[in-house]
Amino acid sequence: MYSQKVMDHFLHPRNVGQVEHANGVGEVGNPTCGDIMHIEIEVKNEIIQDIRFRTFGCAAAIATSSMVTEMVKGKTLEEAEKITNRTVAEALDGLPPVKMHCSNLAADALHAAIRSYHEGLKDSSEQ
Ligand code: FES
Repeated sequence: MYSQKVMDHFLHPRNVGQVEHANGVGEVGNPTCGDIMHIEIEVKNEIIQDIRFRTFGCAAAIATSSMVTEMVKGKTLEEAEKITNRTVAEALDGLPPVKMHCSNLAADALHAAIRSYHEGLKDSSEQ
C-alpha cells in the first residue's frame, strides 16, 4: 500500500530531533486522527540552514515529515513556502488516497515554522 520511498523514510526518518539554535517553530495537530507534528528551523540570510522534526503519528505522517525536511534544507524561505501537501506526497511517489490528509501535517507545520520565524523578526524589530 505504501511506496518504497514512504517505507524508506518511515523506517529511516531523516532530520529527527531538535535544532539547537532554532529561530522558527511550528506545531500542528491533525484533527482527524489526533496526530501531532513539531518542526524547528534555523534560518540565516533567508535560507533554511537546519531543520528537524518530531512527529507523533502514523507511517505516512512520519514519512512526509522526513521528506519535507529533506526538500527544504538549504533552500530559501520563498522556495519552502511553495511546498504543499501534494508536492510532498509526489516526492514520496504518492500516498494512498486515505492517507493524503496525513501529508497536511508536514506542509502545515513547515509553514507554521516559517510564520513563527517572521513573527520573531517582527517582535525583535519592535523592541
Ligand atoms: Fe494521523 Fe496519518 S493517521 S497523520
